[in-house]
Order: sequence, then structure tokens, then C-alpha cells
Amino acid sequence: MPIRILVVVAGLLLLAAGSHAAQPRAYATCVACHGAAGEGNPALNAPAIAGQAAAYLERQLRHFKSGVRGGDSADTLGAQMRGMAAPLSDDDIVELAGWLAGQARPAVKAVHPGNAKNGNDYYHSKCDACHGAWGEGNSRLGAPAIAWLDAAYIKRQFAHYREGVRGSHPDDTFGRQMQLMADVLPQDSILDDIIAYMQARAASEAAQ
Ligand code: HEC
Ligand code: HEC
Repeated sequence: MPIRILVVVAGLLLLAAGSHAAQPRAYATCVACHGAAGEGNPALNAPAIAGQAAAYLERQLRHFKSGVRGGDSADTLGAQMRGMAAPLSDDDIVELAGWLAGQARPAVKAVHPGNAKNGNDYYHSKCDACHGAWGEGNSRLGAPAIAWLDAAYIKRQFAHYREGVRGSHPDDTFGRQMQLMADVLPQDSILDDIIAYMQARAASEAAQ
């Protein structure tokens, strides 16, 4: 190949790589709630979505769009997110999920209060088989990262699984797996302990 063509090809490849990393146009509508880089906004109940596995994000967006998630009448915040997923095309969903997965995980600003030692014990007996050693997620099992999610969001999802508000739809195969696990803690306060444990680990992993 003549050198000039090689240079053009290399330039095109660079352009392709650059455009892959650029923020997808469809993300413009997400910024108001999830933040400029997907870091989330607890005041608006919008969870962190940056650094989450692409396959998980894609599934959630498809599920919101089809009503598999957020279709329960008790799920007001899920319904809000359904409205946002409705106009997304399949290409938008793939592009958004890929871009978000490549963004930096949000920093844990303050570790949730709780007994992290007790949380460590419970996390390792009830959650680590699916969510990884400290809540960093396990893509092979479809289990998302939960360590750096905000505590109120985690508690709401856990309660929604337990009450059948999330994970009950017959097409929600992964959600049903999690639903079975939402009844395993003898007291609600243990979830606070688990969150304290995961967030302390997430903060120390980030510091390394
Ligand atoms: C009006 C505020 C708002 C906007 C705008 C919004 N979201 Fe959300 N989003 C939420 C809320 C609230 C939740 C949590 C719903 C719940 O509690 O189940 C959520 C949940 C999600 C989740 C699930 C996260 C998880 O861990 O399961 C994803 C993925 C998501 N949003 C992506 C997006 C994308 C992509 C856009 C833009 C196309 C967007 N959102 C726009 C409020 C918003
Ligand atoms: C059998 C495997 C399994 C176990 C054990 C398990 N989970 Fe899950 N969990 C999942 C899967 C799979 C999902 C994602 C479901 C989906 O795609 O909607 C999930 C989702 C979640 C979510 C929602 C995350 C989000 O971003 O919306 C939370 C919170 C959660 N799990 C907490 C826990 C906690 C705490 C424990 C231990 C008490 C636990 N899980 C044990 C498989 C599991």
C-alpha cells in the first residue's frame, strides 16, 4: 500500500476510536438527572450508572422501555425512567451503555453509617456468590456492581425486589434471581451494615 493511503487509513482509524469515546448524542437528555459523566444524583433519586457493565445497562434500558422494569403501579421512580427510555432506539441503547461502561466509577464521598464488620460477614454469606468479592459486580452472572451506589437507591431496590415491585415480570429472568435473595436478611438494619462494608471497600480500592 502506498504510504499516503496508509496515512489516510490510520487517520480514519483514529477518528473512529475518537468518536467511540465521545459522549453519545442521546446522553444529552440524561445529564439533568444522572450527571455529566453518569455519576448519579441522590437528591433526584437517580443512581450512578458510570462504570457499570454494558450488558447490565443495556438490559435495564430495554426493560424500562418495554415495561419489564418500572411497569408496576407502585414503582413511581421506575415509571419516570420508563419515560426517558421510551424514545431510545436500539442503537442509542447500545451506544449509551458502551459509553457509560467506559466512564470512571464515581467516588464514594461518605461511607454509609453501619457496622461494617457485621456487613462483611453477611455480605460474604449472602451476596458475594453473585456480586463479587466486595460488590464490584460479576458480569458472567449478570450481577451488577453495587458497591458505589448510593445507600437510599440500594435500599429502595432491595425493598422493591422483596415486595415484588421489581423482578416479578415473567420476562425478567435476572430480576427473579435477585428477588429470591431479597428475603435472606433477618433484619433491615443488616442491609445498612452491608452497604457500610461495600462502600468502605470501594473507597479503599479507589484510594489504591
Ligand atoms: C428525570 C430524571 C431522569 C432522567 C432524565 C433519566 N433518568 Fe435514568 N433513572 C432515573 C431514576 C429516578 C432511576 C431509578 C429508578 C428506580 O428507582 O428504579 C433511573 C435509573 C436508571 C438506570 C438503572 C440503573 C441501575 O443501576 O439499575 C439506568 C441504566 C438509567 N437510569 C439510564 C438513563 C439514561 C441512559 C438516560 C437518558 C436517556 C436517563 N437514565 C435519564 C431518573 C432519570
Ligand atoms: C443468585 C445471585 C445473586 C445473589 C446471591 C444476590 N444478588 Fe443482587 N442481583 C443479582 C442480579 C442478577 C441482579 C440484576 C437483576 C437485573 O438484571 O435486573 C441483582 C441486582 C441487585 C441490586 C440492584 C442493583 C441496581 O443497580 O439496581 C441490588 C441493590 C442487589 N442486587 C443487592 C444484593 C444484596 C445486598 C445481596 C445479598 C444480600 C444480593 N444482591 C445477592 C443477583 C444476585
